[in-house]
Amino acid sequence: MLWACVAWTLLVGGSLYWNYRHEHESTLALARNEAVANINKDLTFRRWATGHGGVYVPLTEDTPSNPYLVASEKDIETTGGRKLTLMNPAYMVRQMQRLYSETFGIKGHITSLLPLNPSNKADPWETSVLQAFEAGERANVFATADIGGVPYVRAMMPMITEPGCLKCHAHQGYQVGDVRGGISVSVPLAPYLAREHGVLQALRISHLAIWAVGVLAFYWLYRRALVRLTEREQVELRIRELNESLDRRVRQRTAELEKANSELESFSYSVSHDLRAPLRALNGYARIIQEDEAARLSQEGKEMLARIWVNAERMGALIDDILQFSRVGRTEMSFAPTDMAALAAGVIEELRAEYPAAAVQLDQMPAVQGDEAMLRQVWINLIGNALKFSSRREQPAVQVGSEVVDGATVYFVRDNGAGFDMANASHLFGVFQRLHAANDYPGTGAGLAIVKRIVERHGGRIWAESAPDKGATFRFTLAAESAADGAN
Ligand code: HEC
Repeated sequence: MLWACVAWTLLVGGSLYWNYRHEHESTLALARNEAVANINKDLTFRRWATGHGGVYVPLTEDTPSNPYLVASEKDIETTGGRKLTLMNPAYMVRQMQRLYSETFGIKGHITSLLPLNPSNKADPWETSVLQAFEAGERANVFATADIGGVPYVRAMMPMITEPGCLKCHAHQGYQVGDVRGGISVSVPLAPYLAREHGVLQALRISHLAIWAVGVLAFYWLYRRALVRLTEREQVELRIRELNESLDRRVRQRTAELEKANSELESFSYSVSHDLRAPLRALNGYARIIQEDEAARLSQEGKEMLARIWVNAERMGALIDDILQFSRVGRTEMSFAPTDMAALAAGVIEELRAEYPAAAVQLDQMPAVQGDEAMLRQVWINLIGNALKFSSRREQPAVQVGSEVVDGATVYFVRDNGAGFDMANASHLFGVFQRLHAANDYPGTGAGLAIVKRIVERHGGRIWAESAPDKGATFRFTLAAESAADGAN
C-alpha cells in the first residue's frame, strides 16, 4: 500500500514536473516568436527606407538633422520654404523603435560594435552576440534577461553589409558580406508568464485531483484486501478450533475405549483364570468316579460320565484359548529379526506326525522384524488349520510361502481342504466363530482370532479366499517397514 502510494506520487509528481518544464519552454518559444516577428518588421521597414535612399521628414526637435549622415542634399528647403532633412534607414528605425517601445513595451535596438552614432552602442549582451556573429554565427540568438528588474526575452539578428550599404558605411572600412551590426529586440515576459501561471495553476489542481483519486483507490483496494484477509483468517481460526476440539474428543473417546477394553480384557482374563480351579476339581472327581465307582454304574451312567468328561475337556480347551487370546493382546512384544522360513519349517516338523498323509510344500521366505514367539503361533494356527481341514482329502496338500505384491511381502498358507463359503468370511476371524461343526473338525474356533490379533499387533493385515470344497488360502502381511527390513 505504502509503496504503491509512493510510486503513484512519483508518477504524478514526474508528470507535473514535465508539464512545468514543457509549459515554460512554450512560454519562451511564444515570446521568441514575437521577438522574431518584430525584428522582421524592423528589417522590412528598414529595407523600404533603404529602397528610397532614405526619406525626407520635416525638420523638428524630435527629428533634427542627423550629424552622422554624410550626404549631399541632406537638409533642403521646399519651394514653399519648408525645411526638410534626410532620414537614413537606421535613424528611421531608431525613431520607430522608440515609439514602439513607449506604446507596447517592446524594446528595439539597432546596434554595431563600431557605431556611427554613439547611442547605437551595444550593451554587454549585444556585444557578445555581435562578436559571435563576426565569428561566423548567422542564426538568430536568443536569451532571457532581467532589464531593470523585469524579465525579458531577447533576440538578435545579424545585419550583413550589402553593396547598397557601402554608399554611407564604406568609410568605416566595411566590405560586402561583413557583419555591419544587428537588430536586437527585447520582449517583456510578463504577459507570457501570466498565461503560464494560469496554465500551471490548472495543472497543479488537475494533478492534485488525479493524485488524490489514485491514493483513494489504493486505499480502497487496501481496505478491501484487509477485510478479505481477516475474513479468511477468521474462517481458518474457526476451522482450527473445530479440528482441535474434534481431536480432543477423539483422543478422549479413544482413551475411554481403551480403558473399557482393557477392563473387559482383564475381567475376562481373571474369569477364565478363576474358572480353571473348579474345572480341575470337576475333572478330578469325574476321574475318581470313573476309576472307583465304575463297577456300580449302569451303562447309561458310564456314558453320561464320559460326556461330562468330554465337555470338561472342551471347556478346558476353551479357557486355555481365551487366556491365550487375552495374553496375545497384553504381553509386551520383543522385536527381533525372525527367519520366517525356519519358523514355518519347525512348525511343519512338529505337526507332520499328526498328519502323515499330507504333502507339505515350503517355499523360500524373507526374514522379518517381529516377535518370534507370536509369529510362531501364527504359523502353528494357520498351518495347523490347513492340515486339519485338508485331512479328509485323499491327497492332502498344503503350500506355505510368500510373494511380493505392490512392494510388500504377503505370506500365504494354501490347502486343498474343505474350504468355506465366502459369504461367511466376515465371521472367520471372530473369537469362537466356527464355520464347521465341532464334530467334523475339532477345535474351539479361537485360532484365527489369535492369528489376526498377532498380525495386527505387527501392523499387518490378514484375509482369506476360499470356496466350499475348493480349499482355502490365508494371506497376511506384516508392517511394510518390517517386511522391507527382513528382505535385506
Ligand atoms: C544613406 C546612408 C546610409 C546607407 C545607405 C546605410 N546606412 Fe547605415 N547608417 C547610416 C547613418 C548616418 C547611421 C547612423 C544613424 C543614427 O544616427 O543612428 C547608420 C547606422 C547604421 C547602423 C547602426 C550602428 C551605427 O553605426 O550607428 C547599422 C547597423 C547600419 N547603419 C547598417 C547599415 C546597413 C547593413 C546598410 C545596408 C543595407 C546601411 N546601413 C545603409 C547611414 C547609411
